[in-house]
Amino acid sequence: MTDVRTGDPGQWQRKRVFIRTYGCQMNVYDSDRMADVLRPLGYALSDSPEQADLVVLNTCHIREKASEKVYSELGRLRDAKLERRREGSDLTIAVAGCVAQAEGAEIIRRQPAVDIVVGPQAYHRLPELLAQVARKAAERQAGGRRQPGAGVLDTEFPAESKFDHLPAPGGVRAGSAFLSIQEGCDKFCTFCVVPYTRGAEYSRPAASVLQEARALVAAGAVEITLLGQNVNAYHGEAADGATWSLARLIREMAEVDGLLRIRYMTSHPRDMDDELIEAHGTVPQLMPYLHLPVQSGSDRILEAMNRGHGRDHFRCLVDRLREVRPDLALSSDFIVGFPGESDGDFDDTMRLIDEVGLAAAFSFKYSRRPGTPGAALPDQLPEAVKMARLAALQALIGRQQREFNVSKVGATVPVLFAEPGRKPGQVLGKSPWLQSVYVEGGAAMIGKIADVRLVAAHALSLAGEIPPSLEAAA
Ligand code: 5AD
Ligand code: SF4
Repeated sequence: MTDVRTGDPGQWQRKRVFIRTYGCQMNVYDSDRMADVLRPLGYALSDSPEQADLVVLNTCHIREKASEKVYSELGRLRDAKLERRREGSDLTIAVAGCVAQAEGAEIIRRQPAVDIVVGPQAYHRLPELLAQVARKAAERQAGGRRQPGAGVLDTEFPAESKFDHLPAPGGVRAGSAFLSIQEGCDKFCTFCVVPYTRGAEYSRPAASVLQEARALVAAGAVEITLLGQNVNAYHGEAADGATWSLARLIREMAEVDGLLRIRYMTSHPRDMDDELIEAHGTVPQLMPYLHLPVQSGSDRILEAMNRGHGRDHFRCLVDRLREVRPDLALSSDFIVGFPGESDGDFDDTMRLIDEVGLAAAFSFKYSRRPGTPGAALPDQLPEAVKMARLAALQALIGRQQREFNVSKVGATVPVLFAEPGRKPGQVLGKSPWLQSVYVEGGAAMIGKIADVRLVAAHALSLAGEIPPSLEAAA
């Protein structure tokens, strides 16, 4: 294998990388950034591991199932690697993301076929890691036997931020782009691995965020979603030395010509300050949809989760947000079966959902994560209890989601079209409330916003029509 930094481009331009992304939007963003880092080394993206020279698993450690999936995938990749070697070629295997950060060298011990383990703060060093792998491969070819555990590892949290090193993203898809502005978390919810795998909270300087926002708009973005593990804890340094809040950043972004939609995720109820609530009423580009995870509706469980607020705080936030933006739709995250959760606690969660009304939600059975305080708590609940509660909660959310969709039938709303629909001759897009809307139309509409009359609601999508008077504009 050529040294990827100094080799002949003609030789390595043909390389292909397959990146499999598990987990959250932050990982989707990071996978794009890894592709950006690898491109100058001659790696083109591949659609399948079979055609790739390098496979990167960008992993998620948030629930047990997510990490176990990684090891079964690694078993399959090891077989593929052995097969390649028999044929005289090779396959480089890299594990990135939160499992890489949490388990580090243990991954190489469990699966010696792994060449690289790289934590989420070290992606800018991928070229150097690949060069190390190439050197080891050269040694092996020269006759030295490769010992198990010879993979290279980089899970340092560097003093400098990776944002300073990663290339600017070019990732505008159908008018939409993600922009990562904040990483890590200092909140230490007792169920969650993120503070351990992603490290301390860090906000990116405001000027570099604005510069990237302008570049994304220039590249065709009409919608930008600001990303962060705790995005509303954002406190980025501005050029004049002041600290900008998320609200301030949003107001400044709203000044960028051509940027029509701004969203942010994921936020924490504790960081919904007055200024940010007000922005929902005053910044028209800020979409009327907020993902605000509450996890539980029981004060006792919220306390045990170390969430730092009670159910009344959440209810009050929702009331205040709807006061300034009456059409605001809410989504949230829930965990059922946290240790010690009683029937009464679970009822409190169901009542909270009833009271606030949701347009969508993600819900999970509590998953015991090694090293988190929750894992050591007594009164871990049986799987059957968790399953029954999850089913009841999901049924309630499903009803609310359908009701929300039905409530919009008859309205004419702007839809940003993103992709071809399921049936030929249809295009699919997103309403301001992130509902999937499909209409009759062609690929020319993708990346554009058009006014659509919503005519029918289903559980997960809405059918729309472009009114004849507006068809020409679309
Ligand atoms: N078990 C179940 N769900 C979890 N989440 C985080 N940690 C756990 C866990 N240990 C959920 C939370 C969070 C979402 C991203 O994942 O609801 O908001
Ligand atoms: Fe995890 Fe809590 Fe931090 Fe969210 S706020 S990332 S749930 S520790």
